[in-house]
Amino acid sequence: MKREWWHGKVAYQIYPKSFQDSNGDGIGDVPGIISRLDYLKSLGVDIIWISPIYQSPCVDQGYDISDYYALDPIFGDMDDFKRLLEETKKRDMHVVMDLVVNHCSDQHPLFQKALADPYGPESKFFYFMEGKPDGTAPCNWRSYFGGSVWDKVPGTENLWYLHLFTKEQPDLNWENPELRERVYKMMNWWLDLGLAGFRIDAIVNIKKESNFKDYPADRADGLCTIDYELSEAAGVGEFFADMRDHTYGPRHAFAVAEAFNIKEGELPDYVGDNGYFSSIFDFSTEIMQHTAGGWHTTPKFSATQYRDAWYASQAEMADHGFYCNIIENHDEPRGASRYLPLEGQTDAGKKMLAVTMYMRRGMPFLYQGQEIGMVNQTFTSIDQVDDVNTIDSYQVALQDGLSEKEALQVISDRSRDNARTPMQWTDGKNAGFTEGTPWLGLNENYKEINVAAQDADPDSVLNFYRALSRLRKDARFAETVVYGDFAPILQEKDALFAFYRDRQDPAPEGECASLLVLANAQNKPCSFGIDRDGYDEVVLNNLKEFAKDGRQITLQPWQAVILC
Ligand code: GLC
Ligand code: CA
Repeated sequence: MKREWWHGKVAYQIYPKSFQDSNGDGIGDVPGIISRLDYLKSLGVDIIWISPIYQSPCVDQGYDISDYYALDPIFGDMDDFKRLLEETKKRDMHVVMDLVVNHCSDQHPLFQKALADPYGPESKFFYFMEGKPDGTAPCNWRSYFGGSVWDKVPGTENLWYLHLFTKEQPDLNWENPELRERVYKMMNWWLDLGLAGFRIDAIVNIKKESNFKDYPADRADGLCTIDYELSEAAGVGEFFADMRDHTYGPRHAFAVAEAFNIKEGELPDYVGDNGYFSSIFDFSTEIMQHTAGGWHTTPKFSATQYRDAWYASQAEMADHGFYCNIIENHDEPRGASRYLPLEGQTDAGKKMLAVTMYMRRGMPFLYQGQEIGMVNQTFTSIDQVDDVNTIDSYQVALQDGLSEKEALQVISDRSRDNARTPMQWTDGKNAGFTEGTPWLGLNENYKEINVAAQDADPDSVLNFYRALSRLRKDARFAETVVYGDFAPILQEKDALFAFYRDRQDPAPEGECASLLVLANAQNKPCSFGIDRDGYDEVVLNNLKEFAKDGRQITLQPWQAVILC
């Protein structure tokens, strides 16, 4: 595997609307991000990915772009952005932007022109299709956020446009070479400005099953999940390769894809030495909860299933490339709430989760607030929710017969807004996020969980994350942490994480050849024997004590240790 400049780094996702407001309008912005760069640096962050800040009507929080060359005024202007690039450069940090090119906003001039002239040249940048002879939509696919993927082009008899997400997010037609050229030009424009790369949104969706055929309905609405057509759509790789070769590829920029539904055997094409992308996110633990039935049919899983899911990804990826490892992002509930049972949602439990994420092979990709152990919100009314996906999932739960109370519990567990509540900086007014009224309600626990308190406490979750980042860059351990093979043991033991990270080359004098990572994800102690001698030096421990006698080890509830 070729070595790349970003392999040893730590990355961090910023959800700009909720990170730091600088001007009192209740919305986070670019000057706010700049004011927090030193904080990010202190956390060991090298790469920041900023969710979309382009001009947008914000129907899907910026994932509906109406001008790809401008910042939305709520976030600042181009001068602010250039200042961000300078300030990050000074700190040896890199900025990655969201690339949302499966669709744009219905307010984008190109789509507006297409609507004005539905058979004219601009319509070819989208999917405009005749409906069925009986006047219904071309096919029965359900959009990700509910309802048909088709909406009628206003003023036409039976002409429809495609949108896999909301109706305000028309899909761009990648079959049109002119569209591709425009996208590449835009990407290069940003790269020339000094971007380090892109996080590429919903990219597997750019290729559609070419016949737009119906599939068997899987809910009472008569529609079916897009997964069916995705599994039949062929040739998306050609689009990816073309995009890479015209943009980030030759520049060695970083490209991490939001890629679900990768087909059997195709992983090396995605992330190998000549892969379409630099990396992809490991969504294996998230996927455990995917269901066609909606959020209220989400299956539960155990700590062991959680472990086995990402162990399997590690094994699959081993010879090919590097995952970006996550426990949460802006589309998911908080990792601490999702992956730890209530009794484990303590500082010890959160630190344990951090160890299991940081010590995998791949690049740790934090999400804002994760480093202080932010947890889910409890929604007591649907009015507290902004997210389109949550509102739809709430309705689906009600239609399926859940009570209001039950449906609110479902969204409290699953809502994307769990991750989107404002960042908790202090225990002061609005958690130090804004002087004004926050655009989305704060999690009421900010008095206990906030950066200021944890910064001052050497035993805090925040300082533990800092220690993990330092370990990744420590000359003695870096090679092992970043490139060491992942070798699990003791998989027969429930809720126990136990794996070696073994250097492939002989370690030079003074460097560590192998680490043993242990974590006990349960509320009772766990005893076991390991199969190697040594590992007597404790490199990191989330508790004060540690019991090891030769090869015999006992971990306390939620204990995590890293041994050398
Ligand atoms: C991706 C984004 C999500 C957005 C969707 C449509 O999944 O992460 O936030 O709603 O794409 O752009
Ligand atoms: Ca603001």
